Amino acid sequence: MPLMRTLSIEDVKARSEKSQLKRRLSARDLVGVGIGVIIGTGIFTLTGIQAKEHAGPAITLSFVIGGIVAALAALCYAELASAVPTAGSAYTYAFATLGEPLAWIIGWDLLLEFGLGAATVSRSWSGYLQNLFDLPTSLFGEKAPFNLGAVLIEAVLATIAVLGIKLSSWFTNTLVVVKVGVCVLIIAVGAFFVKAANLSPFVPPSAPPAAGSPGGLHQPLIQAALGIEPAVYGFGGLLTAAAIVFFGYTGFESLANLGEETKKPSRDMPIGLIGALAICTVLYVGVAFVVTGMVSYRTLDDAAPLAVAFDSVGLGWAGVLIGIGAIAGMTSVMMVQLLTISRTSYTMARDGLLPKSLGEPHKRLGTPHRTTIIAAVVIMAIAAFIPISELSDMVSIGGLSAMLIVAVAVPILRRKRPDLKRSFRVPWSPVIPIIAALLCLYLMLNLDMLTWLRFGIWLAAGLVIYIAYGRRHSVLSKRSQSANSIRPDAGN
Ligand code: ALA
Repeated sequence: MPLMRTLSIEDVKARSEKSQLKRRLSARDLVGVGIGVIIGTGIFTLTGIQAKEHAGPAITLSFVIGGIVAALAALCYAELASAVPTAGSAYTYAFATLGEPLAWIIGWDLLLEFGLGAATVSRSWSGYLQNLFDLPTSLFGEKAPFNLGAVLIEAVLATIAVLGIKLSSWFTNTLVVVKVGVCVLIIAVGAFFVKAANLSPFVPPSAPPAAGSPGGLHQPLIQAALGIEPAVYGFGGLLTAAAIVFFGYTGFESLANLGEETKKPSRDMPIGLIGALAICTVLYVGVAFVVTGMVSYRTLDDAAPLAVAFDSVGLGWAGVLIGIGAIAGMTSVMMVQLLTISRTSYTMARDGLLPKSLGEPHKRLGTPHRTTIIAAVVIMAIAAFIPISELSDMVSIGGLSAMLIVAVAVPILRRKRPDLKRSFRVPWSPVIPIIAALLCLYLMLNLDMLTWLRFGIWLAAGLVIYIAYGRRHSVLSKRSQSANSIRPDAGN
Protein backbone atom coordinates (compact mmCIF):
# COMPACT_ATOMS: atom_id res chain seq x y z
CA MET A 1 0.00 0.00 0.00
CA PRO A 2 1.83 3.18 -1.06
CA LEU A 3 2.23 5.60 1.84
CA MET A 4 1.51 8.73 -0.17
CA ARG A 5 -1.40 7.48 -2.26
CA THR A 6 -3.27 10.37 -3.85
CA LEU A 7 -6.73 10.90 -5.28
CA SER A 8 -6.48 11.61 -9.02
CA ILE A 9 -7.39 15.10 -10.15
CA GLU A 10 -9.60 13.51 -12.81
CA ASP A 11 -11.60 11.79 -10.03
CA VAL A 12 -12.00 15.10 -8.23
CA LYS A 13 -13.12 16.87 -11.40
CA ALA A 14 -15.51 14.10 -12.38
CA ARG A 15 -17.18 14.32 -8.97
CA SER A 16 -17.45 18.05 -9.34
CA GLU A 17 -19.06 17.70 -12.77
CA LYS A 18 -21.58 15.19 -11.37
CA SER A 19 -22.38 17.54 -8.52
CA GLN A 20 -26.01 18.60 -8.22
CA LEU A 21 -25.07 22.07 -7.01
CA LYS A 22 -26.10 24.97 -9.22
CA ARG A 23 -23.47 27.39 -10.55
CA ARG A 24 -24.99 30.68 -9.54
CA LEU A 25 -22.30 32.70 -7.66
CA SER A 26 -20.36 35.55 -9.30
CA ALA A 27 -17.07 37.12 -8.16
CA ARG A 28 -19.03 39.87 -6.41
CA ASP A 29 -21.13 37.33 -4.55
CA LEU A 30 -17.95 35.60 -3.42
CA VAL A 31 -16.51 38.86 -2.07
CA GLY A 32 -19.74 39.29 -0.09
CA VAL A 33 -19.71 35.73 1.26
CA GLY A 34 -16.02 36.16 2.11
CA ILE A 35 -16.59 39.32 4.13
CA GLY A 36 -19.54 37.55 5.75
CA VAL A 37 -17.29 34.85 7.18
CA ILE A 38 -14.15 36.91 7.82
CA ILE A 39 -15.28 39.92 9.90
CA GLY A 40 -16.23 38.86 13.42
CA THR A 41 -14.58 38.15 16.76
CA GLY A 42 -11.09 38.92 15.46
CA ILE A 43 -11.83 42.62 15.18
CA PHE A 44 -14.81 42.99 17.53
CA THR A 45 -13.20 41.26 20.53
CA LEU A 46 -9.59 40.14 20.10
CA THR A 47 -8.41 43.68 19.27
CA GLY A 48 -9.09 44.66 22.89
CA ILE A 49 -7.58 41.60 24.57
CA GLN A 50 -4.47 41.56 22.41
CA ALA A 51 -3.76 45.29 22.56
CA LYS A 52 -4.04 45.09 26.34
CA GLU A 53 -2.04 41.90 26.85
CA HIS A 54 0.59 41.86 24.09
CA ALA A 55 0.89 44.69 21.61
CA GLY A 56 -0.48 48.04 22.85
CA PRO A 57 -1.29 50.44 19.97
CA ALA A 58 1.00 48.35 17.76
CA ILE A 59 -1.96 45.96 17.43
CA THR A 60 -2.54 47.94 14.20
CA LEU A 61 0.75 46.55 12.85
CA SER A 62 -0.24 43.07 14.04
CA PHE A 63 -3.30 43.31 11.80
CA VAL A 64 -1.12 44.49 8.88
CA ILE A 65 1.17 41.46 9.32
CA GLY A 66 -1.80 39.09 9.63
CA GLY A 67 -3.33 40.58 6.46
CA ILE A 68 -0.12 40.08 4.46
CA VAL A 69 0.23 36.44 5.54
CA ALA A 70 -3.45 35.76 4.84
CA ALA A 71 -3.19 37.38 1.38
CA LEU A 72 -0.17 35.27 0.42
CA ALA A 73 -1.94 32.13 1.61
CA ALA A 74 -5.06 33.19 -0.28
CA LEU A 75 -3.05 33.43 -3.54
CA CYS A 76 -2.08 29.78 -3.04
CA TYR A 77 -5.68 28.84 -2.30
CA ALA A 78 -6.76 30.72 -5.40
CA GLU A 79 -4.40 28.78 -7.69
CA LEU A 80 -5.51 25.43 -6.32
CA ALA A 81 -9.16 26.44 -6.42
CA SER A 82 -8.80 27.44 -10.08
CA ALA A 83 -7.05 24.16 -10.98
CA VAL A 84 -9.21 21.80 -8.91
CA PRO A 85 -12.63 23.37 -8.38
CA THR A 86 -14.34 21.14 -5.84
CA ALA A 87 -16.51 21.17 -2.74
CA GLY A 88 -13.81 19.73 -0.47
CA SER A 89 -11.40 22.70 -0.53
CA ALA A 90 -7.93 22.45 1.03
CA TYR A 91 -8.55 18.92 2.16
CA THR A 92 -9.24 17.74 -1.39
CA TYR A 93 -6.32 19.74 -2.86
CA ALA A 94 -4.01 17.96 -0.44
CA PHE A 95 -5.56 14.59 -1.29
CA ALA A 96 -4.77 15.14 -4.96
CA THR A 97 -1.23 16.43 -4.44
CA LEU A 98 0.39 15.48 -1.16
CA GLY A 99 -1.30 12.18 -0.40
CA GLU A 100 -3.88 10.75 1.94
CA PRO A 101 -2.12 11.18 5.34
CA LEU A 102 -1.48 14.91 4.82
CA ALA A 103 -5.00 15.35 3.45
CA TRP A 104 -6.33 13.77 6.63
CA ILE A 105 -4.20 16.15 8.72
CA ILE A 106 -5.54 19.17 6.79
CA GLY A 107 -9.14 17.97 7.20
CA TRP A 108 -8.48 17.36 10.90
CA ASP A 109 -6.94 20.88 11.24
CA LEU A 110 -9.91 22.44 9.48
CA LEU A 111 -12.29 20.73 11.90
CA LEU A 112 -10.23 22.23 14.75
CA GLU A 113 -10.14 25.69 13.17
CA PHE A 114 -13.84 25.87 12.39
CA GLY A 115 -15.06 24.00 15.50
CA LEU A 116 -13.13 26.03 18.03
CA GLY A 117 -13.66 29.09 15.84
CA ALA A 118 -17.41 28.68 16.25
CA ALA A 119 -17.00 28.29 20.03
CA THR A 120 -14.91 31.47 20.18
CA VAL A 121 -17.32 33.54 18.10
CA SER A 122 -20.34 32.35 20.12
CA ARG A 123 -18.66 33.55 23.34
CA SER A 124 -17.82 36.87 21.73
CA TRP A 125 -21.46 37.14 20.53
CA SER A 126 -22.61 36.49 24.10
CA GLY A 127 -20.29 39.25 25.40
CA TYR A 128 -21.76 41.85 23.06
CA LEU A 129 -25.31 40.72 23.85
CA GLN A 130 -24.61 41.10 27.59
CA ASN A 131 -23.20 44.57 27.02
CA LEU A 132 -26.10 45.68 24.81
CA PHE A 133 -28.94 44.51 27.07
CA ASP A 134 -27.13 44.62 30.39
CA LEU A 135 -27.79 40.89 30.88
CA PRO A 136 -26.55 39.02 33.98
CA THR A 137 -22.78 38.50 33.77
CA SER A 138 -23.23 35.15 35.51
CA LEU A 139 -24.74 33.72 32.29
CA PHE A 140 -23.52 35.95 29.46
CA GLY A 141 -20.05 37.23 28.49
CA GLU A 142 -16.53 36.27 29.50
CA LYS A 143 -17.09 36.33 33.27
CA ALA A 144 -19.87 33.73 33.22
CA PRO A 145 -18.84 30.39 34.76
CA PHE A 146 -21.37 28.76 32.37
CA ASN A 147 -21.80 30.82 29.21
CA LEU A 148 -25.50 30.31 28.49
CA GLY A 149 -25.57 32.93 25.71
CA ALA A 150 -22.91 31.10 23.69
CA VAL A 151 -24.70 27.76 24.12
CA LEU A 152 -28.08 29.16 23.08
CA ILE A 153 -26.90 30.83 19.88
CA GLU A 154 -25.09 27.66 18.74
CA ALA A 155 -28.22 25.59 19.45
CA VAL A 156 -30.37 27.93 17.35
CA LEU A 157 -27.93 28.00 14.43
CA ALA A 158 -27.43 24.22 14.48
CA THR A 159 -31.22 23.78 14.31
CA ILE A 160 -31.37 26.09 11.28
CA ALA A 161 -28.52 24.13 9.63
CA VAL A 162 -30.15 20.73 10.27
CA LEU A 163 -33.55 21.87 9.03
CA GLY A 164 -31.79 23.09 5.91
CA ILE A 165 -33.36 26.53 6.14
CA LYS A 166 -31.51 28.55 3.55
CA LEU A 167 -30.90 32.01 4.88
CA SER A 168 -31.93 34.09 1.92
CA SER A 169 -29.14 35.88 0.13
CA TRP A 170 -30.97 39.12 0.92
CA PHE A 171 -30.64 38.37 4.64
CA THR A 172 -26.94 37.39 4.51
CA ASN A 173 -26.09 40.37 2.29
CA THR A 174 -27.79 42.65 4.81
CA LEU A 175 -25.64 41.22 7.61
CA VAL A 176 -22.53 41.92 5.54
CA VAL A 177 -23.60 45.50 4.82
CA VAL A 178 -24.36 46.04 8.52
CA LYS A 179 -20.95 44.92 9.71
CA VAL A 180 -19.00 46.74 7.04
CA GLY A 181 -21.12 49.80 7.90
CA VAL A 182 -20.23 49.43 11.59
CA CYS A 183 -16.49 49.26 10.81
CA VAL A 184 -16.77 52.36 8.62
CA LEU A 185 -18.74 54.13 11.37
CA ILE A 186 -16.05 53.28 13.95
CA ILE A 187 -13.33 54.66 11.71
CA ALA A 188 -15.23 57.79 10.57
CA VAL A 189 -16.65 58.82 13.96
CA GLY A 190 -13.86 57.47 16.17
CA ALA A 191 -11.21 59.35 14.18
CA PHE A 192 -12.43 62.61 15.77
CA PHE A 193 -11.67 61.22 19.26
CA VAL A 194 -8.16 59.91 18.63
CA LYS A 195 -5.64 61.38 21.06
CA ALA A 196 -1.95 61.26 20.22
CA ALA A 197 -1.15 60.49 23.87
CA ASN A 198 -2.98 57.16 23.66
CA LEU A 199 -0.88 56.10 20.68
CA SER A 200 2.46 56.90 22.27
CA PRO A 201 4.64 54.92 22.55
CA PHE A 202 3.20 53.14 19.53
CA VAL A 203 5.21 50.00 20.28
CA PRO A 204 5.35 49.88 24.12
CA PRO A 205 8.78 48.77 25.33
CA SER A 206 9.20 45.08 26.02
CA ALA A 207 8.42 44.28 29.67
CA PRO A 208 8.22 41.21 31.91
CA PRO A 209 4.67 39.80 32.15
CA ALA A 210 2.63 41.41 34.94
CA ALA A 211 2.89 39.77 38.35
CA GLY A 212 0.23 37.11 38.70
CA SER A 213 -0.14 36.55 34.95
CA PRO A 214 0.35 32.93 33.95
CA GLY A 215 3.98 32.23 33.08
CA GLY A 216 5.67 28.95 32.11
CA LEU A 217 3.88 27.35 29.23
CA HIS A 218 2.31 30.70 28.30
CA GLN A 219 5.60 31.87 26.82
CA PRO A 220 5.72 31.94 22.98
CA LEU A 221 7.55 28.88 21.63
CA ILE A 222 10.07 30.99 19.73
CA GLN A 223 11.05 32.97 22.87
CA ALA A 224 11.52 29.78 24.85
CA ALA A 225 13.50 28.13 22.03
CA LEU A 226 15.85 31.11 21.78
CA GLY A 227 16.24 31.27 25.56
CA ILE A 228 14.69 34.76 25.77
CA GLU A 229 13.25 35.86 29.13
CA PRO A 230 9.40 35.85 29.07
CA ALA A 231 8.23 39.30 27.92
CA VAL A 232 5.18 41.13 26.66
CA TYR A 233 4.90 44.17 24.34
CA GLY A 234 7.87 45.23 22.19
CA PHE A 235 8.47 43.61 18.82
CA GLY A 236 7.91 40.11 20.24
CA GLY A 237 4.52 41.11 21.68
CA LEU A 238 3.49 42.62 18.37
CA LEU A 239 4.26 39.30 16.64
CA THR A 240 2.47 37.23 19.27
CA ALA A 241 -0.57 39.46 18.83
CA ALA A 242 -0.26 39.09 15.03
CA ALA A 243 -0.38 35.30 15.39
CA ILE A 244 -3.44 35.51 17.64
CA VAL A 245 -5.40 38.16 15.72
CA PHE A 246 -4.74 36.06 12.63
CA PHE A 247 -7.97 34.53 13.90
CA GLY A 248 -9.64 37.57 12.36
CA TYR A 249 -8.59 36.50 8.87
CA THR A 250 -9.39 32.81 9.22
CA GLY A 251 -12.50 31.54 7.55
CA PHE A 252 -11.73 32.84 4.05
CA GLU A 253 -10.79 29.24 3.20
CA SER A 254 -14.45 28.31 3.34
CA LEU A 255 -14.91 30.27 0.09
CA ALA A 256 -12.90 27.57 -1.66
CA ASN A 257 -15.72 25.16 -0.72
CA LEU A 258 -17.95 27.01 -3.16
CA GLY A 259 -15.97 25.99 -6.27
CA GLU A 260 -18.87 23.83 -7.48
CA GLU A 261 -21.38 26.65 -7.06
CA THR A 262 -19.39 29.40 -8.77
CA LYS A 263 -20.18 30.48 -12.32
CA LYS A 264 -16.59 30.67 -13.50
CA PRO A 265 -14.52 29.36 -10.59
CA SER A 266 -11.19 29.79 -12.33
CA ARG A 267 -11.78 33.53 -12.77
CA ASP A 268 -14.14 34.36 -9.93
CA MET A 269 -12.48 32.46 -7.08
CA PRO A 270 -9.19 34.43 -7.03
CA ILE A 271 -11.11 37.73 -7.29
CA GLY A 272 -13.44 36.67 -4.47
CA LEU A 273 -10.66 35.53 -2.13
CA ILE A 274 -8.26 38.42 -2.65
CA GLY A 275 -11.04 41.04 -2.87
CA ALA A 276 -12.64 39.97 0.42
CA LEU A 277 -9.30 39.85 2.23
CA ALA A 278 -8.17 43.23 0.92
CA ILE A 279 -11.37 44.95 2.09
CA CYS A 280 -11.20 43.28 5.52
CA THR A 281 -7.52 44.17 6.01
CA VAL A 282 -8.19 47.85 5.33
CA LEU A 283 -11.15 47.85 7.73
CA TYR A 284 -9.26 45.97 10.48
CA VAL A 285 -6.24 48.25 10.34
CA GLY A 286 -8.47 51.34 10.43
CA VAL A 287 -10.60 50.09 13.33
CA ALA A 288 -7.60 48.94 15.39
CA PHE A 289 -5.83 52.28 14.91
CA VAL A 290 -8.86 54.38 15.82
CA VAL A 291 -9.87 52.36 18.89
CA THR A 292 -6.40 52.27 20.44
CA GLY A 293 -6.23 56.02 19.70
CA MET A 294 -9.55 56.72 21.45
CA VAL A 295 -8.77 55.03 24.77
CA SER A 296 -5.61 53.81 26.40
CA TYR A 297 -4.98 50.16 25.48
CA ARG A 298 -4.66 49.41 29.21
CA THR A 299 -8.34 50.18 29.77
CA LEU A 300 -9.85 48.25 26.84
CA ASP A 301 -12.68 45.89 27.78
CA ASP A 302 -12.24 42.10 27.42
CA ALA A 303 -15.73 41.24 26.17
CA ALA A 304 -17.03 44.16 24.07
CA PRO A 305 -14.02 46.49 23.64
CA LEU A 306 -15.25 48.51 20.66
CA ALA A 307 -18.68 49.32 22.10
CA VAL A 308 -17.22 50.13 25.53
CA ALA A 309 -14.58 52.42 23.97
CA PHE A 310 -17.33 54.51 22.35
CA ASP A 311 -19.36 54.53 25.59
CA SER A 312 -16.35 55.79 27.48
CA VAL A 313 -15.95 58.89 25.27
CA GLY A 314 -19.63 59.73 25.72
CA LEU A 315 -20.86 58.25 22.41
CA GLY A 316 -23.34 55.79 23.91
CA TRP A 317 -25.48 55.82 20.72
CA ALA A 318 -22.51 54.67 18.65
CA GLY A 319 -21.77 51.97 21.25
CA VAL A 320 -25.33 50.65 20.79
CA LEU A 321 -25.02 50.62 16.97
CA ILE A 322 -21.66 48.84 17.22
CA GLY A 323 -23.18 46.27 19.56
CA ILE A 324 -26.04 45.56 17.13
CA GLY A 325 -23.62 45.37 14.19
CA ALA A 326 -21.24 43.05 16.03
CA ILE A 327 -24.05 40.70 17.08
CA ALA A 328 -25.51 40.57 13.56
CA GLY A 329 -22.09 40.23 11.94
CA MET A 330 -20.94 37.42 14.18
CA THR A 331 -24.13 35.46 13.51
CA SER A 332 -23.22 35.09 9.84
CA VAL A 333 -19.69 33.96 10.76
CA MET A 334 -21.02 31.20 13.03
CA MET A 335 -23.50 30.01 10.40
CA VAL A 336 -20.75 29.56 7.80
CA GLN A 337 -18.47 27.90 10.35
CA LEU A 338 -21.11 25.28 11.14
CA LEU A 339 -21.81 24.66 7.45
CA THR A 340 -18.08 24.35 6.72
CA ILE A 341 -17.61 21.74 9.44
CA SER A 342 -20.49 19.66 8.12
CA ARG A 343 -19.27 19.93 4.50
CA THR A 344 -15.67 19.08 5.37
CA SER A 345 -16.66 16.07 7.45
CA TYR A 346 -19.15 15.05 4.76
CA THR A 347 -16.34 14.99 2.17
CA MET A 348 -14.02 13.11 4.53
CA ALA A 349 -16.76 10.54 5.15
CA ARG A 350 -17.38 10.24 1.37
CA ASP A 351 -13.67 9.37 1.00
CA GLY A 352 -13.98 6.76 3.75
CA LEU A 353 -11.68 8.57 6.22
CA LEU A 354 -14.58 8.98 8.65
CA PRO A 355 -17.46 6.48 8.99
CA LYS A 356 -19.69 6.76 5.89
CA SER A 357 -22.85 6.80 8.01
CA LEU A 358 -21.73 10.09 9.57
CA GLY A 359 -21.92 11.88 6.25
CA GLU A 360 -25.20 10.42 5.02
CA PRO A 361 -27.74 13.18 4.49
CA HIS A 362 -31.05 13.08 6.36
CA LYS A 363 -33.65 11.28 4.19
CA ARG A 364 -36.26 14.00 4.25
CA LEU A 365 -34.26 17.14 5.00
CA GLY A 366 -31.28 16.34 2.78
CA THR A 367 -28.78 17.86 5.25
CA PRO A 368 -25.77 16.10 6.85
CA HIS A 369 -27.60 16.13 10.18
CA ARG A 370 -25.32 13.75 12.10
CA THR A 371 -22.11 15.70 11.57
CA THR A 372 -23.94 18.97 12.26
CA ILE A 373 -25.43 17.75 15.54
CA ILE A 374 -22.21 16.14 16.79
CA ALA A 375 -20.24 19.28 15.92
CA ALA A 376 -22.81 21.55 17.58
CA VAL A 377 -22.85 19.54 20.83
CA VAL A 378 -19.04 19.61 21.05
CA ILE A 379 -18.95 23.34 20.24
CA MET A 380 -21.58 24.10 22.90
CA ALA A 381 -19.73 22.08 25.56
CA ILE A 382 -16.51 23.98 24.81
CA ALA A 383 -18.13 27.41 24.46
CA ALA A 384 -19.89 27.02 27.80
CA PHE A 385 -16.67 26.86 29.83
CA ILE A 386 -13.46 27.80 27.98
CA PRO A 387 -12.47 31.49 27.71
CA ILE A 388 -11.90 33.21 24.37
CA SER A 389 -8.22 33.82 25.08
CA GLU A 390 -7.61 30.06 25.37
CA LEU A 391 -9.65 29.15 22.29
CA SER A 392 -8.53 31.73 19.75
CA ASP A 393 -4.87 30.61 19.82
CA MET A 394 -5.92 27.09 18.84
CA VAL A 395 -7.96 28.43 15.92
CA SER A 396 -4.97 30.42 14.69
CA ILE A 397 -2.60 27.44 14.87
CA GLY A 398 -5.14 25.19 13.11
CA GLY A 399 -5.73 27.70 10.31
CA LEU A 400 -2.05 28.58 9.87
CA SER A 401 -0.99 24.94 9.69
CA ALA A 402 -3.62 24.16 7.04
CA MET A 403 -2.49 27.22 5.04
CA LEU A 404 1.13 26.13 5.31
CA ILE A 405 0.30 22.78 3.71
CA VAL A 406 -1.77 24.47 0.98
CA ALA A 407 1.19 26.75 0.14
CA VAL A 408 3.49 23.75 -0.16
CA ALA A 409 0.95 21.99 -2.38
CA VAL A 410 1.13 24.71 -5.08
CA PRO A 411 4.67 24.02 -6.41
CA ILE A 412 4.18 20.26 -5.93
CA LEU A 413 1.06 20.26 -8.09
CA ARG A 414 2.80 22.37 -10.72
CA ARG A 415 5.56 19.82 -10.97
CA LYS A 416 3.28 16.77 -10.86
CA ARG A 417 0.60 18.11 -13.18
CA PRO A 418 2.02 20.88 -15.39
CA ASP A 419 -0.74 20.06 -17.92
CA LEU A 420 -3.64 21.22 -15.70
CA LYS A 421 -5.30 24.40 -16.83
CA ARG A 422 -4.85 27.10 -14.20
CA SER A 423 -6.53 30.36 -15.01
CA PHE A 424 -4.93 31.84 -11.92
CA ARG A 425 -1.27 31.26 -11.17
CA VAL A 426 0.58 32.48 -8.09
CA PRO A 427 3.21 34.88 -9.42
CA TRP A 428 6.87 33.88 -8.95
CA SER A 429 6.14 30.35 -7.83
CA PRO A 430 7.83 28.67 -5.98
CA VAL A 431 9.16 31.82 -4.27
CA ILE A 432 5.80 33.22 -3.13
CA PRO A 433 4.40 29.85 -1.93
CA ILE A 434 7.63 29.20 -0.01
CA ILE A 435 7.51 32.67 1.58
CA ALA A 436 3.83 32.10 2.45
CA ALA A 437 4.64 28.73 4.07
CA LEU A 438 7.57 30.19 6.05
CA LEU A 439 5.51 33.16 7.27
CA CYS A 440 2.72 30.82 8.41
CA LEU A 441 5.30 28.76 10.29
CA TYR A 442 6.87 31.89 11.80
CA LEU A 443 3.53 33.15 13.09
CA MET A 444 2.81 29.70 14.50
CA LEU A 445 6.13 29.81 16.41
CA ASN A 446 4.97 33.04 18.06
CA LEU A 447 2.07 31.22 19.72
CA ASP A 448 2.64 29.97 23.25
CA MET A 449 3.94 26.57 24.27
CA LEU A 450 0.63 25.52 25.77
CA THR A 451 -1.05 26.06 22.38
CA TRP A 452 1.65 23.94 20.72
CA LEU A 453 1.19 21.23 23.32
CA ARG A 454 -2.56 21.15 22.78
CA PHE A 455 -2.06 21.21 19.01
CA GLY A 456 0.36 18.27 19.31
CA ILE A 457 -2.25 16.33 21.29
CA TRP A 458 -4.88 17.14 18.64
CA LEU A 459 -2.58 15.93 15.84
CA ALA A 460 -1.62 12.79 17.77
CA ALA A 461 -5.30 11.98 18.34
CA GLY A 462 -5.92 12.54 14.62
CA LEU A 463 -3.07 10.25 13.69
CA VAL A 464 -4.39 7.48 15.93
CA ILE A 465 -7.85 7.76 14.33
CA TYR A 466 -6.30 7.74 10.86
CA ILE A 467 -4.18 4.67 11.51
CA ALA A 468 -6.93 2.80 13.36
CA TYR A 469 -9.77 3.71 11.00
CA GLY A 470 -9.21 5.95 7.96
CA ARG A 471 -6.23 4.20 6.49
CA ARG A 472 -8.08 0.89 6.25
CA HIS A 473 -11.52 2.16 5.29
CA SER A 474 -10.63 4.88 2.79
CA VAL A 475 -11.91 4.56 -0.77
CA LEU A 476 -8.33 4.43 -2.05
CA SER A 477 -7.52 1.53 0.23
CA LYS A 478 -10.65 -0.32 -0.94
CA ARG A 479 -9.69 0.40 -4.54
CA SER A 480 -6.18 -0.98 -4.16
CA GLN A 481 -7.54 -4.05 -2.34
CA SER A 482 -9.96 -4.82 -5.15
CA ALA A 483 -7.22 -4.25 -7.76
CA ASN A 484 -5.07 -6.75 -5.88
CA SER A 485 -7.86 -9.29 -5.77
CA ILE A 486 -8.37 -8.99 -9.54
CA ARG A 487 -4.63 -9.56 -10.05
CA PRO A 488 -3.87 -12.50 -7.76
CA ASP A 489 -0.16 -12.20 -8.51
CA ALA A 490 -0.08 -8.57 -7.32
CA GLY A 491 2.28 -7.98 -4.47
CA ASN A 492 4.23 -11.23 -5.00
N1 ALA B 1 -12.47 35.51 11.06
C1 ALA B 1 -13.59 35.19 11.86
C2 ALA B 1 -13.75 36.11 13.03
O1 ALA B 1 -12.93 36.95 13.26
C3 ALA B 1 -13.58 33.77 12.29
O2 ALA B 1 -14.70 35.97 13.74
